[in-house]
Amino acid sequence: MRINNKYYRSIWLKDDAADVVQIIDQRPLPHEFIIEDLKSMQDCAEAIREMHVRGAPLIGATAAFGMYFAVREALNSESFQKHIGRAFIALAETRPTAVDLFYALRRMQQVIDNCEDLSLVAEACLNEAQAIADESAEQCRQIGLHGLPLIETVSKIKRGGTVNILTHCNAGWLATVDYGTALAPIYAAFDKGIDVHVWVDETRPRNQGARLTAYELLQHGVPHTVIPDNTGGHLMQHGMVDMVIVGSDRTTRKGDVCNKIGTYLKALAARDNDIPFYVALPVSSFDFELQDGLKEIPIEQRSDHEVKYIYGKNEHGTSEVLLTPAGSPVANYAFDVTPARLVSALITDRGICKANERSIVQMFSPEMAV
Ligand code: MRU
Repeated sequence: MRINNKYYRSIWLKDDAADVVQIIDQRPLPHEFIIEDLKSMQDCAEAIREMHVRGAPLIGATAAFGMYFAVREALNSESFQKHIGRAFIALAETRPTAVDLFYALRRMQQVIDNCEDLSLVAEACLNEAQAIADESAEQCRQIGLHGLPLIETVSKIKRGGTVNILTHCNAGWLATVDYGTALAPIYAAFDKGIDVHVWVDETRPRNQGARLTAYELLQHGVPHTVIPDNTGGHLMQHGMVDMVIVGSDRTTRKGDVCNKIGTYLKALAARDNDIPFYVALPVSSFDFELQDGLKEIPIEQRSDHEVKYIYGKNEHGTSEVLLTPAGSPVANYAFDVTPARLVSALITDRGICKANERSIVQMFSPEMAV
């Protein structure tokens, strides 16, 4: 990903050494660009919980580095196993919905369990955390390549006219290690010279669309327009959206898709207007153990503060202001579930498949057997 024409990933080892992991603190974006050092398991847990980093694959990669720090800390503690067990729980409890977190923790635990020589465990964990990050970036690149033909086809049908794509939340490089999920095919199309334009849902309450997706697209030069969350249906009714592409925090083996709150309403509007609704995700965002997304996926509820206050910039700098009456109660469900029947297709790192069990099993049977 390019920020002010410099190449970044969203998480990396400082100076390629083993002591410090660096991230872009996403909370003050787009107004301030701050790189933050993570030096311990607790730093990583806090970065995930307080959303310095967010987005399913990036949460996973950060947790993996968190387990690496936990191993280093455990080697200096009284009981290695107890320390590791506590760290695993602390990281697992940061955010409940994005399944990539648990995918990464399981992989790190396996490396720890399989390492017979404690003097080698820290290096093995560092290698595994780096592998999780590298694989994640490559998976997102593949999602871009597999999704590109969907955009190319619409472009051809429109004889090179603008392809209008609506997206929700931030499913770009800031939500992953690089490239993004939903935005990866859009970057691939733009880089190929296809005329694309993105409708960016602002995505209340944390405004990941207005703050982060808009920032990314602007940095890359992709034409886009930020819209209030409730605008999509109107645009679809007036032929102004050719397709919807969103990411996913957890998708079941039957193709039910959990993603940022409000995704379901976009899927309903897309279906009512015969507009394709695509979900882009890597293998790490599938939960092959779950059948029924509505009943089984845990939906994170976050603090009132996110709804009651809004963050922005004025001539004095950045600050938060109170939006609601101070005494009004609020509800803050962070995710919702779009049933598989509303999903036109899944754009995965292996290719495109239908949002049903047969198609998902065909694509991912080796991973499902693990
Ligand atoms: O609460 P967030 O900002 O972590 O939510 C992010 C999303 O909902 C993304 O769409 C999702 O993680 C999939 S894209 C990587």
